[in-house]
Amino acid sequence: DWVMGNYIEEAVQKIREQVGDEEVILGLSGGVDSSVAAALIHRAIGDQLTCVFVDHGLLRLNEGDMVMDMFEGKLHARVIRVDASELFLGQLAGVTDPEKKRKIIGGLFVDVFKAEAEKLKASGQGHKGATFLAQGTIYPDVVESGGTKTKKATTIKSHHNVGGLPEQLGLKLLEPLRELFKDEVRELGVALGLPPEMVYRHPFPGPGLGVRILGEVKKDYADLLRRADAIFIEELRHWKDEATGKTWYDLTSQAFTVFLPVKSVGVMGDGRTYDYVVALRAVQTSDFMTADWAELPYGLLKKVSGRIINEVRGINRVTYDVSSKPPATIEWE
Ligand code: XMP
Repeated sequence: DWVMGNYIEEAVQKIREQVGDEEVILGLSGGVDSSVAAALIHRAIGDQLTCVFVDHGLLRLNEGDMVMDMFEGKLHARVIRVDASELFLGQLAGVTDPEKKRKIIGGLFVDVFKAEAEKLKASGQGHKGATFLAQGTIYPDVVESGGTKTKKATTIKSHHNVGGLPEQLGLKLLEPLRELFKDEVRELGVALGLPPEMVYRHPFPGPGLGVRILGEVKKDYADLLRRADAIFIEELRHWKDEATGKTWYDLTSQAFTVFLPVKSVGVMGDGRTYDYVVALRAVQTSDFMTADWAELPYGLLKKVSGRIINEVRGINRVTYDVSSKPPATIEWE
């Protein structure tokens, strides 16, 4: 609309003034904030922006391809896709503690991103390499790190996996979403031509499936989980609630599948199966500090469980998580 159009004009001007003829790198994750930041900055400075998309092997089904199709294919932005899944999975082998897993994933992410930034400098792609690091920091992040909110005495989960990157890289910061709230970021994303499915996506944690595979992370587990999760999300996007006309994806704040590395017995045809279990998790919340489990229709649960068990060989049991936060957390790790 008109107001958003004006906003974009102004934001584009500001970015051009700030950047001049220098170059910018940005870590693209596929999440809402980094995607909108990338689209806006690309609108302003085109090829002076290089996006680095690190695939840690713990993304959802086809996620990497979708990000590339959108940013490289449709927006014609410069994107470097780094397939680092072997590195990440290698370092995670044998590690079961959730916080250790987070530290490893966060640390490797910084290493890989730094290495790409250095390579970019050396390759002479740009004249002198990037001098700016762009981030999709939004207003609530600014308030949080400014100490305006009282900090909790104990950290339950170390969420901020990528701290201190600009200092380590010696880059100036470019944060064009700093003044926006989440719903404004989404509106901006739509106005910039990003697809609503991307802009209205549920949040996805930085460590990805690394904290949705309980205990040790293995590639086989991640592959099974990706397929089961894609079925759950597909059905949530498909099923509509009659009263509101909204899909169950839109009626939930976050929904996903968790891989449980335990085996249980089942029957299939004349045979016995002894396979893995997944849990479906769907919550409704306004701030993610507290959350209720979503009262999904039984028909939806039935469809999802039937499809997962029939389509994903290796999983023979599906459970639904009926725990609220607190005392449970939204993620299982
Ligand atoms: P919990 O599980 O603490 O999650 O109830 C609250 C919200 O935070 C997300 N979450 C994370 N996000 N890195 C992230 O970027 C993390 O390590 C992480 N752990 C949890 C979770 O998905 C939910 O939206």
